[in-house]
Order: sequence, then structure tokens, then C-alpha cells
Amino acid sequence: MMNQTQINLVKKSWRIVRQLPPSLVADTFYSKLFLDHSELRKMFPKNMDEQYRKLMDMLSAVVARLDNLDVLQQDIADMAKRHVGYGVQAKHYAMVGSALLWTLEKGLGSDWNEDTAKAWTTCYGILADSMMTA
Ligand code: HEM
Repeated sequence: MMNQTQINLVKKSWRIVRQLPPSLVADTFYSKLFLDHSELRKMFPKNMDEQYRKLMDMLSAVVARLDNLDVLQQDIADMAKRHVGYGVQAKHYAMVGSALLWTLEKGLGSDWNEDTAKAWTTCYGILADSMMTA
């Protein structure tokens, strides 16, 4: 569970990240992911334009509902099932999680700190766990 301070930290830091060009944030994320784990590239479409928007929108939806993730439970379960169809395995969630944390760290610059890192780690962990359970 995230406490209110962590929820506020995630929301505040996501607002900052959203002020950067979305394609730049998403591009940074996927570049990091594919540099570290090139074997994942083939799971994604050649043209990533759509993917960028989907990732940013989904993260925004999750961040907006952090106080009440239950309302997203069905969406998360459906998304998790589609991910099985994409060939996503449990071990991939940690890879995506570290690329995401790295991207947030770069994007936030001096606004990144240990509390923010912990809050995002918890947030992603909850999301990844509920996807893996679904
Ligand atoms: C909490 C973690 C994740 C979130 C929020 C997320 C979000 C999304 C969203 C919103 C889509 C758009 C299509 C759909 O909704 O089905 C998508 C597609 C996809 N995701 Fe994820 N994802 C996560 C984890 C992962 C992981 C761990 C992998 C493994 C590499 C992955 C690989 C993919 C692939 C391959 C596609 C489909 C690309 C395509 O063919 O269009 N995702 N993801």
C-alpha cells in the first residue's frame, strides 16, 4: 500500500514529467529498455508512435486514480491478459520497472530524490503485482 505522502509525491513528480514533451519521455523510456534488454524489442511494433501515447496515457490514468486504484481493477486485469498475448512474462516486469524509474530520474533531475524513488517503486510494484496476479 502507498501512504498519502507517497501518493502525493507520485502525483507531483508525474505533473513535472508531463510538462516535458511526451514523445521525449516515452522515447527515453523505450531506448533505455531496449538498450538494456534488446531481446524485448521484437515484441513491440516497428513503429512505436502509438505505443508512446498509450504508455503515457495509461500511466496518467493510473497516477490520477492512485487514491482509488480499485476502480481501475477491471482495466488492469484486461490489460494484463492482453500482455500475456504479447508474450510478456513475469520476469519482464522488473525490466520495465527499472527503465521507468531511470526515465523518471532523468526527467525529474533535481526534483528526483530518495522519497520520490521509493514512492514510484511502490507504485509500480502495486501495478505490476496486480497485472501479474490478474
Ligand atoms: C505496469 C506495467 C505496464 C503497463 C502500465 C503497460 C501498459 C501498456 C499499454 C497501455 C499498452 C497498450 C495496449 C494494451 O493496453 O493492451 C501496452 C502494450 C504493450 N506492452 Fe505494456 N505495460 C506494462 C508492462 C509491460 C511489460 C513488462 C512488457 C514486457 C516487455 C510490456 C510489453 C508490451 C507490448 C509488447 C505491448 C504491445 C505492443 C503492440 O503490439 O502494440 N508491457 N502496454
